[in-house]
Amino acid sequence: MPLNTRVQDSLNEHITQEFFASYLYLSMSAFCESNSLPGFSHWLRIQSQEEYSHAMKLFDFILDRQGQVELHPIGQPTLEFQSPQDVMRQVLEHERGVSQQIDRLYQVALEEGDYATQVHLQWFISEQIEEEKVASDIVEQLAMAGDDSSALLLLDRELAARTATPAPPAA
Ligand code: FEO
Repeated sequence: MPLNTRVQDSLNEHITQEFFASYLYLSMSAFCESNSLPGFSHWLRIQSQEEYSHAMKLFDFILDRQGQVELHPIGQPTLEFQSPQDVMRQVLEHERGVSQQIDRLYQVALEEGDYATQVHLQWFISEQIEEEKVASDIVEQLAMAGDDSSALLLLDRELAARTATPAPPAA
């Protein structure tokens, strides 16, 4: 069954959101690198790559459904941040916003009776639980570290170990 126009428009809008997240995390990565936090910078760079893979998963899904991909302009991300705490709080806030966007996207697929899109979006819904949890854990660890620079450096070293887990293919 061809993609419903309303569902297709919503999917295309969300592709832009995922690319924006990729861009935003890359900007945060640059900030952390410039502020002697290579572990945070690495973690955010991997996060940026994962967001790119999320965008591409939707991109491929639209094409697999014989739909039309429409790429929109990506906004400029924030360039300056106050601290690693500020960065991670913004990551968490951003992820919560993305979860709401995916819920709205699912609602559109539900209203239009598009079961294939609903199934596809279930991966994103589960992924958001993980994304929010991981960001929230780091925010809490930073709060515990407070002004203790050795605790911050320890956390930075821990984040440096992150490896990429890109989204699986659209299928
Ligand atoms: Fe693709 Fe972090 O949501």
